[in-house]
Amino acid sequence: MDKKALEALLHDMSTEEKVMQLVQIPGSEYEADAEITGVERGRADEKVKRLAGSTLGIWGAQRLKNIQERYMKEHPHHIPLMFMLDVIHGHKTVLPCPLGQGAAFDPEGAEKGAAMQAYEAAEDGVHVTFSPMSDLCRDARWGRIMESTGEDKYLNSLMASAMVEGYQGGDLKDPRHMAACVKHFAAYGACEGGRDYNNTELSEHTLREHYLRAYGEAVKKKPAMVMTSFNTVNGIPATGNTFLMKKILREEFGFQGVLISDWGAVGEMVNHGYAEDKKDAALKAMNAGVDIDMCSGCYSTYLEELVKSGAVSEKMLDEAVYRVLSMKNDLGLFEDPFRGIDAEKGATVTGESRQLARETVAKSLVLLENRNGALPLRKEKNAFIGPYANTKKLQSSWAFSGDDENTVTVFEGASEVYEPDDIRFSNGCTMLDQDTVTARGKYHTDNWQEENDRLLREAVKTAEWADTVILCLGEDSTQSGEAASKTCLKLPAVQLRLLHEIKKTGKRIVTLIFTGRPLELKEVGDLSDALLICWLPGTEGGHGIMDVLTGKVSPSGRLPVSFPYTVGQEPLHYDIYSTGRPRPESGPTEFTSRYLDCENGALYPFGYGLSYTSFEYGKPELSAEKMTYEENITASVKVRNTGKVPGDATVQMYIRDLSGSRIRPVRELAGFKRISLNPGEEEEVSFVIKEEMLRFWTADGKWESEPGKFHVWLCDSSIDGEALEFRLEKS
Ligand code: GLC
Repeated sequence: MDKKALEALLHDMSTEEKVMQLVQIPGSEYEADAEITGVERGRADEKVKRLAGSTLGIWGAQRLKNIQERYMKEHPHHIPLMFMLDVIHGHKTVLPCPLGQGAAFDPEGAEKGAAMQAYEAAEDGVHVTFSPMSDLCRDARWGRIMESTGEDKYLNSLMASAMVEGYQGGDLKDPRHMAACVKHFAAYGACEGGRDYNNTELSEHTLREHYLRAYGEAVKKKPAMVMTSFNTVNGIPATGNTFLMKKILREEFGFQGVLISDWGAVGEMVNHGYAEDKKDAALKAMNAGVDIDMCSGCYSTYLEELVKSGAVSEKMLDEAVYRVLSMKNDLGLFEDPFRGIDAEKGATVTGESRQLARETVAKSLVLLENRNGALPLRKEKNAFIGPYANTKKLQSSWAFSGDDENTVTVFEGASEVYEPDDIRFSNGCTMLDQDTVTARGKYHTDNWQEENDRLLREAVKTAEWADTVILCLGEDSTQSGEAASKTCLKLPAVQLRLLHEIKKTGKRIVTLIFTGRPLELKEVGDLSDALLICWLPGTEGGHGIMDVLTGKVSPSGRLPVSFPYTVGQEPLHYDIYSTGRPRPESGPTEFTSRYLDCENGALYPFGYGLSYTSFEYGKPELSAEKMTYEENITASVKVRNTGKVPGDATVQMYIRDLSGSRIRPVRELAGFKRISLNPGEEEEVSFVIKEEMLRFWTADGKWESEPGKFHVWLCDSSIDGEALEFRLEKS
């Protein structure tokens, strides 16, 4: 539909019809088994069901076709309904959770993955995904760190931008693309105490320097939608926050798409103590520029009254409705409300999507320890033991449209590689300790102790048979994601007991950790010969993991988040500030910034990961020792594969601004390149340092660089390498 026709449609709509285009209701209003991803709300009345502009949480080609047919017949102007869904890391073919994808340091791969997700979801009638989640996360206690790509603004910016491009494909009218939604705007990951939905306490400096960056970069790729977050910023809920939504998002970032609230977030401004009642909440959300009210009922109940009273102008209403109609138009829904879906076929897992998922799994795995060449596995007797050894539940709590039966378990993967007589499996223990509270309720099972004693005896026997034990442990998928904050980052006691008892057998232990967040792994690492982080690997988990365990693929993942010695260090991140009394490199001394009982830094730091081969970094070089605002400097380093097998190195560039009108982090990731090297092969890796890379939020509130001294590292993680110095000078 062209612009004129769209404007004519808008003009022809009643106020009630306009208001309802700004209302989103749960999919359960149309289908009983819809996925409810928020606080359930009362049934919508028939009028709302008939006129609501969009719905969420349902998928399936035939099902959505039927709903759309009924809906459009009844709608006075036959405006199509928009179907939205959380396709966070997969629809039918589930990829590793976003934190695992962050570990691959592979934005190109993330773009391909997003395109595959869009293809599958669009085949099932979905128009919009609530992804990428672009929240910066420095606190492992927050369960939603699993949905992020980690603690670094630069990596998150590249990943979020790549995912928007992958989902949308540059042309939303292409029926195999879908609209992206950058969320949760803004700074949801800074919730105090790592406790979900909590307030944030951020200076504008920190907000702009770190937390806003990835949203801003992703918005440059023109996502169709942005979602508000549940938290407050500067004491105002994001959903009613005109500084965030008007000044930053609309004016500074230039976002022109649809702004949707998170589930119930409009109404929750009453709980926050920011709105007197739901009518006031509706007014405050409209004034902040929220176009769609997700499932709170505030707009459907009060907005028409607010418009009629003049509290909300017709102009403001029309602008919001026009954005929603334009989004539907960009998706081609007016020309084809079904976007060409084959109702009989729907979405299927294909060999191609499985191969992409398998490769993504292999790239996401992070090898943290590998003593005496424990990995790759030898052709000998291998026992796969633990609650993650043969479970199909390898996807996160945000992959509900994926089907577990499609998942390849670790043991199934092993069974395709080894002879049946050479491998054995044993559960070893339950996933959880008795009475553990998860995001889906309290876990309790009868005879829990007896069952675990039996499983342990069986596991020890299996271990005694084996040469190597592959111990598959981790955090249950219901312990990360939304409303899943934790104060303890240790593995369940029952899993640690299993580890200690297997250790007593004296066998080689390769420990695989499945998790949606950093965990406390000092004890686990000390007792294991090898330690491999597998995240929540999804449909092709067993295959991708076996490709690495057997050495078919050398591990190449790098940590996108810092793994702490203890939860007491959280929030923990590498790009810290020096303080006036930095802890000396040589070790802690009195009157310096340190803990008496722990290191300052991470047990396993950001950017860290081992390979099956070894890499030697030559002496890094700079093309010049100073640059002006018009010049660049090239930083280079030679990297050689000094081992016996091929491997991928992720060469990282960090920069430090040694002084500025505001303090600057001791290191900031400013570039990375993944290179593949065969044994003996050497490659020179170069990065161009440009003035705009040195800009920051200066004391007088500008995005500028300032002349002065800088250090740069070209290295293998956020803690190593030698610093080179250069100056930025005014020309
Ligand atoms: C949830 C989440 C958000 C999700 C939305 C729709 O509350 O916070 O990430 O996209 O509701 O499911």
